[in-house]
Amino acid sequence: MAFGVCFCVAVLQFAWFPAKSENVPEGVHQMECYDRYFMIAVDLSFTGEEPRFEAVDGTGVYPITEQYSAECGYTVSVLPLPGHVELRASYLSCHADNNDDEVFTFNFNLIANHEGKEITYALNKTCSPSLPWSPREVTCETNYMEVSVRSEVACPSGTNGDDSIADKSDQASATSDWQVMFQRAGEKLIPMNLSEARNQRYVFDLTDRRLVFRTPYGQADSFSEEVNGVPVEVVHATLFSRQSWVVLMVDLVAACSMHEGSYDDHGYMKWQTPEVLHPLVSGLNETRVTLGLNGELLEQPVAEERGYIVERHNATVEISIPYNAEGGYRKSFVTGGLREFYIFNLYLEQTLVDEDDAETRMRLHRTLATPLLLRPVFTVNRTILEEQMFTIYLGDIPEDIELAAVQLNGQEFSVPFTNASGCAVTKVVHPNNTHGYTLKVPFNDSYIIHQFSKEDESMKHTLDINYTLTILPENEPYYHLASVMALTDVSPPEFGAVCSESGIRFKLDHRPFDYMWYINIGSELLTPELAAQHGYIMSNDSQSLLLEVPLFTYGYEYKDFALKGFLGTFEILVRDHETSEVQSSAVKTCPFTSTELIVCSTDGRMTVVANLSLAIPSGGSPARTNLIDMYCGPKEADDTSALFSFLLNSCGSTVKLGKETVTYQNEILYSKKHHSVSKAASEEITDRVTVQCTYPLAGLHRLFSTYRFESDSAGIGSIIHTMPSTAGAPGPQVPTTKPTTVLQTTPATKTPNPTPVAFQPAFHPPARYVKVPAFNRFRGMIKVDQQGATVTVVPLQQVFEFFRLNTPPPVMSACLAPPSRPDPFRSGSHPTRDLGSTDWRLNHIRSSAQPSRAILQLTWEEDQAITNLLKLHQSGESDETLAAAPGGGQNLGPVPPGIGSNASLSSTTLG
Ligand SMILES: *[C@@H]1O[C@H](CO)[C@@H](O)[C@H](O)[C@H]1NC(C)=O
Ligand SMILES: *[C@@H]1O[C@H](CO)[C@@H](O)[C@H](O)[C@H]1NC(C)=O
Ligand SMILES: *[C@@H]1O[C@H](CO)[C@@H](O)[C@H](O)[C@H]1NC(C)=O
Ligand SMILES: *[C@@H]1O[C@H](CO)[C@@H](O)[C@H](O)[C@H]1NC(C)=O
Ligand SMILES: *[C@@H]1O[C@H](CO)[C@@H](O)[C@H](O)[C@H]1NC(C)=O
Ligand SMILES: *[C@@H]1O[C@H](CO)[C@@H](O)[C@H](O)[C@H]1NC(C)=O
Ligand SMILES: *[C@@H]1O[C@H](CO)[C@@H](O)[C@H](O)[C@H]1NC(C)=O
Ligand SMILES: *[C@@H]1O[C@H](CO)[C@@H](O)[C@H](O)[C@H]1NC(C)=O
Repeated sequence: MAFGVCFCVAVLQFAWFPAKSENVPEGVHQMECYDRYFMIAVDLSFTGEEPRFEAVDGTGVYPITEQYSAECGYTVSVLPLPGHVELRASYLSCHADNNDDEVFTFNFNLIANHEGKEITYALNKTCSPSLPWSPREVTCETNYMEVSVRSEVACPSGTNGDDSIADKSDQASATSDWQVMFQRAGEKLIPMNLSEARNQRYVFDLTDRRLVFRTPYGQADSFSEEVNGVPVEVVHATLFSRQSWVVLMVDLVAACSMHEGSYDDHGYMKWQTPEVLHPLVSGLNETRVTLGLNGELLEQPVAEERGYIVERHNATVEISIPYNAEGGYRKSFVTGGLREFYIFNLYLEQTLVDEDDAETRMRLHRTLATPLLLRPVFTVNRTILEEQMFTIYLGDIPEDIELAAVQLNGQEFSVPFTNASGCAVTKVVHPNNTHGYTLKVPFNDSYIIHQFSKEDESMKHTLDINYTLTILPENEPYYHLASVMALTDVSPPEFGAVCSESGIRFKLDHRPFDYMWYINIGSELLTPELAAQHGYIMSNDSQSLLLEVPLFTYGYEYKDFALKGFLGTFEILVRDHETSEVQSSAVKTCPFTSTELIVCSTDGRMTVVANLSLAIPSGGSPARTNLIDMYCGPKEADDTSALFSFLLNSCGSTVKLGKETVTYQNEILYSKKHHSVSKAASEEITDRVTVQCTYPLAGLHRLFSTYRFESDSAGIGSIIHTMPSTAGAPGPQVPTTKPTTVLQTTPATKTPNPTPVAFQPAFHPPARYVKVPAFNRFRGMIKVDQQGATVTVVPLQQVFEFFRLNTPPPVMSACLAPPSRPDPFRSGSHPTRDLGSTDWRLNHIRSSAQPSRAILQLTWEEDQAITNLLKLHQSGESDETLAAAPGGGQNLGPVPPGIGSNASLSSTTLG
């Protein structure tokens, strides 16, 4: 190997939150000291959409942009699930105040956006890591690799601190001699000075006791190689300097596993890292791996309990985490169905001990995401027929999903049901972070579709449900469909009926499914309007329907007329809701008595029972009355009344043809056959009894046919009792006086047309899904491939977009090495080789001058020659081309380059 090797590796970073400190704004969830970094977590609800951070030190204010953070040791990540933005700042970051590598203070500004106004909070955090620094430490953050190695030289007191600006400018010149050369795949690249390296986004820094090297991923000088099949990114830098007469070389290798993680069929997230990340690491004695999550290492038993597995085979460390293990975050997602994925913020510490017992600690932060896994939701039909309602359970809904609405047979309802609908949704919460919803919809809900099957005497109820589930916090909808059906045995409703003196009373006790039938009187639907029109008395409540149909109202049929009474029949029809077929009927026939009655039948018969007590002389009998045609006598008579039944246009009836009606009129007269009627007796007759039937002309088919009369409707009959106009004036006359009483029957004015009946479904506005634009950033974090099979979590760009680059000049050391100080890297023994010699030997370079040694002054030209040789060596193939020069010794004190010195070429292995 050409040079001693400082081997350094980096690891991934991701953190989690403990408690909260004081004197900090409320939204700052956490400011914590972790092993090697400050961790600040702020609520996004507090910061607004685009929180920013600035690092602050004595030299100024430096916005933490995406680019700047990768160079200077900051990591900003948004954790959408808890709704936090997290800033991790390495203790070795550019602007942390470092006191003796033991106490670190980070001053920073949090710029939050409160309702459009930017507010800057100046914050600070001081940390003293309890974990001592290892000789080599490597951090593989998500956005950079950072390597630090012990340099074992402390700054003299007083050179640190307040006068840092002045110091640093001095140091800039003091370190200007440092050159860095990157090596890639065995090829050595042109060396550059540190300001050039800084321009290329590499940062080298010298703290009190450590040399720090930091590089973003994907740099031009980085290279990728496969170690045991695992991709590893490597940056190999060689620092060298001639500043103190000795040429120092430090190899710094940053190498991090770039394994992206994989997901196996058994539900494990897997991640791999080689035990040996780079061949330059030699003499490895032991590797210890500790697993953690969210920035905190886990005790072995805890990790085992959670099912995490760390395995080594074939010099590769493989980590397996069950996809739903504790410590991960899950998120629902809609793409080709309902899916979910899990994210683990993996934190890993790998400790390597080489044969010299020098320890290297590697820390790695990586975000692992499972692919999009199907997350089916299901419905279960839990209907119990006896309850007369559907019960449907929608199950295993993840916690970030809520039921927002349901469509019942296409009708949209928001959830919870806010109004009188009989439907209800109840949420059922399970201890395993899932929940479900029980939906109940009564069979008689107006949105349920019913089909009556006459054969089975059963009713089929169907309900198609379209659940709208929304994924929080984006409010993205997902629809789940279910369809349920139930058969219930049902018969058409049956009315009870009782006769009363004045009519018939019908009663129907409601059953939940009676809405499936129409109730008709004749051809007309029974409605409150129809009842009012026909003089029915109707009351309908949730319990029962009561319908009282008074005698002689529309719908009656009469028969068996006799003086004692007659029979009246009323029929209620029950029709199928859908087909209008008559399914059943309720027919009730009741005997009625009536002192007076007139019925004008559709076949042209007038039937009259009239009270004739005032129309006959005292001692006379109603049996002795007749119609105008004196041969038309009563069919029946008793002491006060007589029953006549005759064809309309017989018995001397007069016919009066009106514009739209025809009226048949007759009169009941005390019989003239009985000549014994005295004048006195006839004077007792105070009543003329006219009977008439009126039919609408429009409904008549045969009017003047002697044989047959046909009318669509019964006629309106009336019995008119009038006072004779002049006492004693005999004979049947057209009544000229006002009727004293009129009996009118059958108010059969035909209703125009039955009002068309339709049950209008209640109106529900279509639900609106409020698209919340928030959490776009979350979408930005996730890339879904076209098959929807994998999720990649990509770093967020937005947070950084508005920052500008403002980079301070690179500084090698916080303290200026005084002239009397040995070179910081020259403690212990180092392989050295004199110019011109091919042998390396271990050389103890003392920290003070050795008077016995000769000091050789080089001329400017000689110095230039050595420099050129050095460069030739760096860019050439062979290590053996170095020219010889009298070696040994060292000069103390700064010698301007070019003045010349006694030089020895020394390559240093650190650690
Ligand atoms: C650090 O913050 C505290 C409040 O948390 C404040 O009192 C103190 O002055 C700050 N120190 C500096 C150096 O800003
Ligand atoms: C670094 O190198 C560049 C290019 O070679 C040169 O312009 C610049 O002056 C050098 N800076 C220092 C501090 O030597
Ligand atoms: C171990 O790794 C080597 C080198 O990558 C490979 O050739 C060998 O097949 C691996 N063996 C096993 C069992 O994976
Ligand atoms: C590892 O180091 C220990 C001492 O620290 C030593 O006893 C052991 O032999 C070493 N193992 C190897 C493989 O070098
Ligand atoms: C969650 O718990 C419920 C009730 O115990 C159970 O039915 C369901 O299967 C569980 N779901 C998962 C994903 O474990
Ligand atoms: C479910 O409801 C949503 C929103 O109204 C609609 O876009 C979708 O087409 C419905 N699905 C079905 C199968 O009706
Ligand atoms: C739902 O459950 C009811 C009652 O157990 C049953 O009669 C019906 O057939 C079921 N319907 C469907 C679609 O599963
Ligand atoms: C019931 O809700 C629907 C929409 O969900 C609405 O149109 C209707 O007015 C509501 N009815 C009452 C009585 O609130």
